[in-house]
Amino acid sequence: MTDALSPPAFAMPRLLAGQKALVTGANSGIGAAVALALAQAGADVAINYVAGDDAAQAVVDRITATGVRAKAYKADVSDEAQVTAMFAQVVADFGTVDILVANAGLQRDAAFASMTLAQWNTVLGINLTGQFLCARAAVQEFQRRGIVPAISRAAGKIICMSSVHEVIPWGGHVNYAASKGGVKLMMESMAQELAPQHIRINSIAPGAIRTPINTAAWETPEAYDKLMTLVPYGRIGEPEDIGNAAVWLASDMADYIVGTTLFVDGGMTLYPGFSTNG
Ligand code: BGC
Repeated sequence: MTDALSPPAFAMPRLLAGQKALVTGANSGIGAAVALALAQAGADVAINYVAGDDAAQAVVDRITATGVRAKAYKADVSDEAQVTAMFAQVVADFGTVDILVANAGLQRDAAFASMTLAQWNTVLGINLTGQFLCARAAVQEFQRRGIVPAISRAAGKIICMSSVHEVIPWGGHVNYAASKGGVKLMMESMAQELAPQHIRINSIAPGAIRTPINTAAWETPEAYDKLMTLVPYGRIGEPEDIGNAAVWLASDMADYIVGTTLFVDGGMTLYPGFSTNG
């Protein structure tokens, strides 16, 4: 097992040199790994988080050790005023934002009949409204700045962190699946509207990744074996798998990729139950 911040086994190409990235929910799990990967690819990185000052500082320290800039920004992505203030501060500190990874997300699981409105609203508020607020602020900055050819062919890039559950229904997690289904059409509609301005918007849809959000799904051998019945590739995803995908998707290597969801899931969306049935 590698930890969320362990470096890749290959030399990360410096595809994002000189770019400024903001990653939300970047003090743990997938967000921390994405932030580190973008930094290893040469980007300066703003680390958004809402709780866990020490963990955010650890990510900042780990990134600055690679030779680029990083700074932590405490803000609740579901709060409009906090998002506005965060973007203003990031632009003041870094000059602009070239890449937004709208990653912050959580689960509040419950059987449907007993799901509380608070559980529903919390998940929709962070996972969907939070991505809307951050994407809107990023687009406003992209429109203000426009294309800088020495930096990127695009006027800005947004990666929405979705999930395999934007297509796979998930009983017991109706709020979460609804939020990710919302992310799918929000992303596609934003991408369609903003592509003529050379703003490039896509999603990454992780499958089962070894992070704190789903510890119960992998921490015991029994749980891990059960999980593997859903993953044709036969291993759990590591946070670095998502970081590597984010570097490429944010870079000009992916300049013609617009409005696409990149599934990084070891084949979880291939209906593995049908390999011996149906
Ligand atoms: C969820 C995880 C889950 C994975 C695969 C993710 O979006 O956050 O809890 O393990 O999907 O089902």
